[in-house]
Amino acid sequence: MKKLIFKPIENFNWFLGLKLFKNANYFSINLFNYFYKKNICNHKYLKENFVKEYHVEGFAKLNKINSKIINEINSELKDQSLNAGLNNQINFKITPKIFGIVKKLINHDLDKYLKLLEKYYNQKINLAYLTISRNYETSKEYNNNSYFVSKKMEPYSNFYHTDGYVFNMFKIFINLQDVNEDEGPLHLVKKEKSKKFIKLKKFYSREKYLRSEESDKQVEDCLFKNTGKLGDVLLCNTAELIHKAGDVGANKKRDILFMSFVATPDVNDSIDYFSFNEEVFEDKIVKKLSKIPGVRKLIRFYFKCKKISLKS
Ligand SMILES: [Fe+2]
Repeated sequence: MKKLIFKPIENFNWFLGLKLFKNANYFSINLFNYFYKKNICNHKYLKENFVKEYHVEGFAKLNKINSKIINEINSELKDQSLNAGLNNQINFKITPKIFGIVKKLINHDLDKYLKLLEKYYNQKINLAYLTISRNYETSKEYNNNSYFVSKKMEPYSNFYHTDGYVFNMFKIFINLQDVNEDEGPLHLVKKEKSKKFIKLKKFYSREKYLRSEESDKQVEDCLFKNTGKLGDVLLCNTAELIHKAGDVGANKKRDILFMSFVATPDVNDSIDYFSFNEEVFEDKIVKKLSKIPGVRKLIRFYFKCKKISLKS
């Protein structure tokens, strides 16, 4: 009975999100994001180019990480002999040594950006999820002419979607190798082109959109593909943008380091970015802090953010 009442509301919430905010996140979450950005974010920091880009476009390239530190990580990964799972994706084990290098990278190379983002968000920022993964080519188990493709057929996050989190969660991607078009770069749908993308791909959700090569060609200009060199860094809000992992070509692979950070009043007394220590090796923390279910909880979270926002 409950399902009979709530399902249509949920569907309508989804439909409105897509129609009005042109992404695949709920209307209620988009509305939260809109008011957070309007009323809680500190617009004084939009004078910083990367903050402005991030605020307006939803993503920004940051300065490259020194290749020495990336090579340090890569030489640690080299010794891990892990088998690709069924979905042809490997998640490397984050050893204490690797975690130490990543912490150094955050404290040295990313600190200046994170400090400014804390001021922009008006909240303390914490690392909430860290993973290093390798994607290989995966055979397609579905037909290119299919419109509906079950999520079960998705090998890794390579179906277009928007992450169901609030704006407070953002990601930083670091290339551990040079990434070309056929090595599966992240695809982002540019905000100003999302209307065209949704129309031409007949996009409704992760499971429902056109998969044909022809439709891919039609939306080529709607995409930003995160190709680049070893050490390149991308800051991105995947809760605002439609995106997917690119498909990896035959005999190719893509190694990448992902970090999710959350700007939140829900972490007390954090003195650095690492309040959660090794807990960030699983995605539980990021879910707990930034997946806010239900409108009532979203409203409560909004007012908590507003009340506790750092007054800078
Ligand atoms: Fe995603």
